[in-house]
Amino acid sequence: MQHKKEAYWFYRFLSIFYDDLVNPLFWTEPMREKSLTIAGLDDAEDLKIIDVGSGTGFTTEGIVKYVDPTQVTCIDQSPHQMQHARAKESLHGAKFHIGDAENLPVTTNSYDRYVSAGSIEYWPHPAQGVREAYRVVKPGGRATIIGPIEPPTFWGRFLANTWMLFPPENDYKRWYEQAGFEDIQIKYLDPGWYTGDEHFALSISGRKPVDGPMESPKIPEPKDVEEEGLLASAKTVGRVVLGSAAGGAFIPMALGAKAIAAINGTDDPREPLTNAQKSVLTGIGVAAAVGVIALLTRKRD
Ligand SMILES: C[S@@+](CC[C@H](N)C(=O)[O-])C[C@H]1O[C@@H](n2cnc3c(N)ncnc32)[C@H](O)[C@@H]1O
Repeated sequence: MQHKKEAYWFYRFLSIFYDDLVNPLFWTEPMREKSLTIAGLDDAEDLKIIDVGSGTGFTTEGIVKYVDPTQVTCIDQSPHQMQHARAKESLHGAKFHIGDAENLPVTTNSYDRYVSAGSIEYWPHPAQGVREAYRVVKPGGRATIIGPIEPPTFWGRFLANTWMLFPPENDYKRWYEQAGFEDIQIKYLDPGWYTGDEHFALSISGRKPVDGPMESPKIPEPKDVEEEGLLASAKTVGRVVLGSAAGGAFIPMALGAKAIAAINGTDDPREPLTNAQKSVLTGIGVAAAVGVIALLTRKRD
């Protein structure tokens, strides 16, 4: 799904149940609050902020706890995701623009803070996206990117990489350093149900030097070649289906882990199961029960 067209189609459908089912599993409120502690928002009252890959506005809702929505500009390539953000009352007054994280439709040195959560994993050239973060931030301003970390196990990596990009921590650091950021800070983020040895995601934040260059040094990136025709469309459909299946596999796994944590009392009370999650869990339970009954009945025949 690490391709703009594929991400577009993925979110065409995912945006329908993104806020109720998917987002509260992998990107929770406590994670969001922790990630923003290094975004330089404490003194942000009259600062201009850009939220890139703003989606349905979940992270924007965290940002407007610090600043008035009128100071926030949201950019996303998916109109379907954006329509949910636009409808949120807490975000009234924010500006919304369709745009590409790797080629932002805003001028150089124009924002005090840049925030992007859960979007870098869809960018075909993440280093270019980080350079764009550097370009649009004013000297002395901060850019914060939140993204998943490569899972440590073989099967975790296989599923994750079939779905989209899960960069190793060192890649995030390298992209920030190469872009020219200084004072680079990292916070690790885990949903309450997660019991893995390595962290699930991170938030990385860096400052654009006050007397540094306005833009990052150019690094040649492979050019995106937009294939056209029936075969290209078939490939896109195939990749969206395969990527969605791999991504979809994470949902029952995470839901199961969350249900077990709730039963054991080890879950985070700030991350309760949503109604949509309860419905899916009930559906899985009923399907499993029907399967077992069918199996037992067949044996008796
Ligand atoms: C997992 S969602 C995160 C949304 C939001 N930041 C949040 O906190 O819930 C990822 C978003 O990134 C957007 N996206 C993916 N690739 C993009 C690109 N190249 N430029 C802009 N937005 C992009 C998707 O459309 C989607 O809305």
